[in-house]
Amino acid sequence: MTTTVITGIGELVTNDPARTEQGGLLGLVHDAAVVVEGSRIAWVGPAAEAPAADVHVDAGGRAVIPGFVDSHSHLVFAGDRSGEFEARMTGEPYSAGGIRTTVAATRAASDEQLTSHVARLVAEMRAQGTTTVEIKSGYGLSVHDEARSLAVARQFTDETTFLGAHVVPSGITPEDYVDLVTGPMLAAAAPHARWIDVFCEDGAFDVDQARTILAAGSDSGLRGRLHANQLTYGGGVRLACELSLVAVDHCTFLSDLDVESLSDSGTIATLLPGVEFSTRQPYPDARRLLDAGVRVALASDCNPGSCFTSSMALCIALAVREMRMSPAEALHAATATGAGALGRDDVGVLAPGKAADLVLLDAPSHVHLAYRPGVPLVAGVWQAGRPVV
Ligand code: NIG
Ligand code: FE
Repeated sequence: MTTTVITGIGELVTNDPARTEQGGLLGLVHDAAVVVEGSRIAWVGPAAEAPAADVHVDAGGRAVIPGFVDSHSHLVFAGDRSGEFEARMTGEPYSAGGIRTTVAATRAASDEQLTSHVARLVAEMRAQGTTTVEIKSGYGLSVHDEARSLAVARQFTDETTFLGAHVVPSGITPEDYVDLVTGPMLAAAAPHARWIDVFCEDGAFDVDQARTILAAGSDSGLRGRLHANQLTYGGGVRLACELSLVAVDHCTFLSDLDVESLSDSGTIATLLPGVEFSTRQPYPDARRLLDAGVRVALASDCNPGSCFTSSMALCIALAVREMRMSPAEALHAATATGAGALGRDDVGVLAPGKAADLVLLDAPSHVHLAYRPGVPLVAGVWQAGRPVV
């Protein structure tokens, strides 16, 4: 197996819990080196002690971080909703109803069109340092279109999520649609999915419906996650905690009871600040969650409606500027805790045995991700040990 040593790393973010005593939350190592063997990390430590390897890369004093783990995206879609965004920026509110516009365009697209569109977006993410991405269905909303959306997503990631319960499509009652989602649609989707998700919100699905859908998913071997408390206070976050889901996403409108439930259950709150940016909503208060002991992840929610960014660096910058996270907390949330939100511990951490998913920044430290917002800082990406950027 080929080995590669990266030396001259001015600042290495390991996220390794064994290194937090000296290296803080991010387990920082200065003047570091990393050895990659095949698809895994073989060695991490001071550059002066690095073993030899087949290939040598000099980072030139720059920073290396784990690849971003984007635990929430909706990449399988067709069409464009820039007009809806434009209207929002002149005062229209965001509503879940816009989803139906994308459903019509997605149903009309061929498998090839959907596949090439997802390929383009995944490449766009990779070029910005994302090495693990979760992809949801949710713009098909028929048995055929949900199954093929997931089959397309599966070509790009193992972290696929069945979101047939995104909104109730036109032409069917909510009761009949929940029956469809928990019956034939779930049966067609489950072979292509690891997760099941529900948009639990006014105008989408209520807590009882979400409970029914998550239970059916669990019976089919899918793990649950939820979109909750995005537009209103509601019971979604508490349902996620009651069911001990690994993550609940959005968490924009939280009562004290919601925060308490999150800290008691250990369910990760995945915040999606690109959504607040793109919908002009108030940002969730990450500090309040962190101070209460809640684990916080950051993800892009890349989708054509509420937030069409694929940039985890933008999410980090927003989290630092608008949500009172420190640069270290935000990067940790976009890597190690993002991995936790997918039930993974093999990515998001740079330590021996972990996936060799690394990003070389054109910057001396991770702080530049928030300090230099909007600047492309990714100088190189290795995914499973292979240089891909
Ligand atoms: O995560 N909240 C529900 N779903 C997406 C938005 C979907 C859309 O507007 O197309 C989200 O924000
Ligand atoms: Fe979403």
